[in-house]
Amino acid sequence: MRLFAFIFFCTISFYGNTQQVSISRRVDSLIAKMTLDEKAAQLHQISNPFSATGPITPVGDYLQQIKEGKIGSMLNIVGAERTRQLQELAMQSRLKIPLLFAQDVIHGFRTTFPLPLAEAASWDLAAMERSARIAAIEASASGIHWMFAPMVDISRDPRWGRVMEGAGEDTYLGSLIAAARVKGFQGAGLGTPASVMACVKHFAAYGAAVGGRDYNSVDMSERQLRETYLPPFKAALDAGAATFMNSFNDLNGVPATGNALLQRTILRGEWAYKGLVISDWSSIAEMITHGYASDTLDAAHKAILAGSDVDMESHAYYRYLPVLVREGKVPEKLLDDAVRRILTKKFEMGLFDNPFKYCSVAEENKQWNNKAHLAEARNIAAKSIVLLKNDSLPDTQKAVLPLKVSGQKIALIGPLVKAKSENLGFWSFDWPDDSIRIVSLWEGVKAAVKDTAQLLYAKGCNLNDADTTGFAEAVHVAMQADIIVLSAGELRGMSGEAKSRSVLNLPGVQEQLIKRLAATGKPLVVMISAGRPLIVGNNAAQSQALVYTWWLGTEAGNAIADVLFGKHNPSGRLPMTFPRTEGQIPLYYNHYNTGRPAGNDPYYGTGYIDLPKSPLYAFGYGLGYGAVTYSKPVVSSVAPKGNETLEVKVSVAYDGNSPRTETVQLYIRDKTGSVVRPVKELKKFQQITLLPGEQKVVGFKLTTEDLKFYNNDLQYVWEPGAFDIMVGPASDKVQMVTVNWGR
Ligand code: NOJ
Repeated sequence: MRLFAFIFFCTISFYGNTQQVSISRRVDSLIAKMTLDEKAAQLHQISNPFSATGPITPVGDYLQQIKEGKIGSMLNIVGAERTRQLQELAMQSRLKIPLLFAQDVIHGFRTTFPLPLAEAASWDLAAMERSARIAAIEASASGIHWMFAPMVDISRDPRWGRVMEGAGEDTYLGSLIAAARVKGFQGAGLGTPASVMACVKHFAAYGAAVGGRDYNSVDMSERQLRETYLPPFKAALDAGAATFMNSFNDLNGVPATGNALLQRTILRGEWAYKGLVISDWSSIAEMITHGYASDTLDAAHKAILAGSDVDMESHAYYRYLPVLVREGKVPEKLLDDAVRRILTKKFEMGLFDNPFKYCSVAEENKQWNNKAHLAEARNIAAKSIVLLKNDSLPDTQKAVLPLKVSGQKIALIGPLVKAKSENLGFWSFDWPDDSIRIVSLWEGVKAAVKDTAQLLYAKGCNLNDADTTGFAEAVHVAMQADIIVLSAGELRGMSGEAKSRSVLNLPGVQEQLIKRLAATGKPLVVMISAGRPLIVGNNAAQSQALVYTWWLGTEAGNAIADVLFGKHNPSGRLPMTFPRTEGQIPLYYNHYNTGRPAGNDPYYGTGYIDLPKSPLYAFGYGLGYGAVTYSKPVVSSVAPKGNETLEVKVSVAYDGNSPRTETVQLYIRDKTGSVVRPVKELKKFQQITLLPGEQKVVGFKLTTEDLKFYNNDLQYVWEPGAFDIMVGPASDKVQMVTVNWGR
């Protein structure tokens, strides 16, 4: 059996290597036939001029240009038929090099999944991999080869609109999620059915833009960069990510697109990355605006030297790379290397063998309304919801949620109760039949209660204006009900690219509406939909239960109903800290202690005099129905040796009525270091399912790999000494044991 496995393995790897060798030969022989213009064309990506996701540069007759082999890849072209038409034009070009079609498929294609940040709240890596896989299946059926995802930027600033697109503030969780998403997109590997190329973005540190203002500068130590911001990229690379996208920001004064430290030294040098790097939209030309390049020629020059292979929408490479090579400013080999990388991807995708492989209308139709995909979307949407508050009612002593399915009058109030496309959030696709396909909250709740509960409705107000004329009706409806369920939120377009906000309250008069409804004295459940952590303290204070629903996608209403009525016991945990006010931002759990930490002295502690020192809700926090009790962690040794594996065990007991998924989180603190270390760092977590009355022992294994960090010489090391090992249901609810490691 072992011999068979060995032979099988050798055959597979031999086959893989032979395939690579033959691709490499085919690429070389193609490059040998190419003119300088044809080479530069391969590095030229333009958007569909009629469907842009950035400021468009006039392109002229792009259909003719495709025919003449002047374009290498396209963005924002969707559909089996349309991509086939364009690919047919490419097949008329001199060298018949197929086009690649790229698309921002950020959280689903035909089936919209929760926002990536919302999915991150599920902490369910397998579910996230499945949702990426489904996105790949649906998008590839519509002609797409290349997803501009996953976005793996760590961010600690909810003012930044693009936090919706990432996995939140934590490097460890973000790295695992990055790998899961890459695996989902690429499936069994480029060239296999429905495999699309992942594009890990934005390299690098885009999420640390000063003040949370999109596109803004980033200035940080290289130590911080390597420790906090780069690991998710490395994890994505290790998971096989085919492509990388660089970013708009400058990093320590050098735009990422022209940054050789990032792209040449770290990515291609230290990490030995062999894949392709694409610029962000017009980020090559924008180096002129940054003040880093004098004109487009200079920008093209700096970008290619720094390691950007493909030019998205700057039209700089196509115009100037041949000139730069002819003038001897760019070695032709450098151009060839970049061309080799894109051609290799086209070969690996199988496009030279069949340029139309993803252009089948029959396959597109098959994936158009895939019920299994919708079921999966409902499942992960329910897992993404975070229950932030669930008080007991004085008369019954029972928590407000879950709601009873029968025998009561429920008032569903708010601007999002009957909303449809709003549920999709930013970076999603609007399809003509959305009004039928998307499940509103109203429809989800109706389907859950059938005829057993009476539902009342009032809109109350709009999402973002000053009109309070609907309040009276809302109060009137509320007065007739046993319980109020209010659905409020941001506008869908308030988070996303170029959607930074300085005030993070609910927009319009929604908070006033909540106040008015609270004044009725009826139990009030507030649900908030948004693409970022909002400032929700007032809403929490007014309500008995607070549920964070983010934007959940096509199946939003069903998923919310599953949580409201207890079909799904809420299991989401915050992937980002929720601040009390905007003034606290940036606020994150893994900060340093400082010399005067909050709480040590009544006067002299870091923080604000007008606010508690803690966040409103901490990283990792989220409630479920029923109660869990954690024991103190027990370790296999209080003085582990350097090469020892430390076992950490904790017992978790559950008292509740329905199965509950618990995310058991392990944090460490390195108490003294040659550089200061965070007060907590997530190092492991496990999701377990507990049945009512069940108790489980959860075990973790730690080695010195988990203790490593970058010291001041940028060496990745661990240092012997005291470490707190903390385990609990959230970053601020841990129990601790201290060990002396390596001494
Ligand atoms: C700019 C965004 O930063 C990037 O994430 C996206 O992929 C491109 N536009 C293309 O739409």
